[in-house]
Amino acid sequence: MHNKYKKLFLLKQNLVFLNHGSFGACPKSVFKSYHNWQLKLENQPVAFLDQARDFNKHMKTPRTFLAKELKVKSNDLVGVTNATAGLNAVAQSILLKKGDEILISDHEYGALEKTWDYVAKKNKAKVIEVKVPLPLNSEDEFVEAFKNNMTKKTKILFISHITSPTALVFPLKKLIKEANKRGIISIIDGAHAPGLIKLNITSLNVDYYSGNCHKWMMAPKGSAFLWANKNKKNILEPLVISHGWLPNNYKKLQKGEFTETRFIDSFELQGTKDPSAWLTIPDAIKFINDKKYSNAFKESSKLAYETALTISNLTKIPLLANREFLAPQMISIPIPKCNVDHVKTQLLKKFNIEVPVIKWKNRCFVRISIQIYNSKSELIKLTQALKKIFKL
Ligand SMILES: Cc1ncc(COP(=O)(O)O)c(C=O)c1O
Repeated sequence: MHNKYKKLFLLKQNLVFLNHGSFGACPKSVFKSYHNWQLKLENQPVAFLDQARDFNKHMKTPRTFLAKELKVKSNDLVGVTNATAGLNAVAQSILLKKGDEILISDHEYGALEKTWDYVAKKNKAKVIEVKVPLPLNSEDEFVEAFKNNMTKKTKILFISHITSPTALVFPLKKLIKEANKRGIISIIDGAHAPGLIKLNITSLNVDYYSGNCHKWMMAPKGSAFLWANKNKKNILEPLVISHGWLPNNYKKLQKGEFTETRFIDSFELQGTKDPSAWLTIPDAIKFINDKKYSNAFKESSKLAYETALTISNLTKIPLLANREFLAPQMISIPIPKCNVDHVKTQLLKKFNIEVPVIKWKNRCFVRISIQIYNSKSELIKLTQALKKIFKL
């Protein structure tokens, strides 16, 4: 049976879609707003994209909405295409020297591991991977693992807020405090966090934070942000140098005179591009904050946890953490060792279920994402399918 909210989405109605985590899914009403922005752009491209006419005004509204949602100042926030781009800009802006150390966890997203390997190789720096103790049951144990790897050479701490392979919410506060005490630059990969957990970026006391609006905030693909601590934003260089890098009258200005809008201009003016996904963010925020869905979001979290417990009881393999460290609507459930590609194909082809089956280190997981469009019957279907595949 379909959940009544499924028809609010553009998803294939008969597919059991349990992979909101990878690329999100945009509600029809939000997508309509996206489409309207695109129509408006094509209707008068010059007025729309000219900074002196409509562009700056349009770009400011999503920044204001998002700043309120993330509890940050809007001047410290810029739109980027995705978290990978935001984090790359930070990684490639920080000056490193030979022997500097970059501390990351062993749960980081593959694309960003590559970014840090690239940056380290270029600067003759070193990436140090910290093994997070599993199951994750205590913040102190978590912090201790990082402390044990911090040295005088540690220059950067890079860590996910919510991890990709394991779907854990890392407790960041004490760890960041420790990094700040030691003068280590903290960079947070918040790709999954907006819309999945309540965010207060200011209270984290970090240096840099990038997150996606196209996952759990349900904005269209290509909407993300980079936030920087106000004292640290001026060192950032965008990946593309264009009109916004320096103001048009920069030759006449003294050094440092144009810093207030430079961060925003240098990131948001990068050649001709369609900003419609960014402009749709206010509608996405209104959707996720609409009181009529608040119960459904709570139910989704409950369903995710119940399903995880049911599967864990069947496999006799414990979950990766206490509930407080499991992401609310996305859980990586350990499954017996298997050929993950084969299991994923079976789930899709035989059972019509789209869900990631992940190999991480020498372990295997099925990572369920439950969004308001999912129903209990779909999770029962997944459980039955796994029972059949693994003969549980
Ligand atoms: C933890 C984490 N970081 C970064 C990303 C990259 O996101 P994007 O492809 O939108 O840049 C992902 C994507 O799933 C992720 O899970």
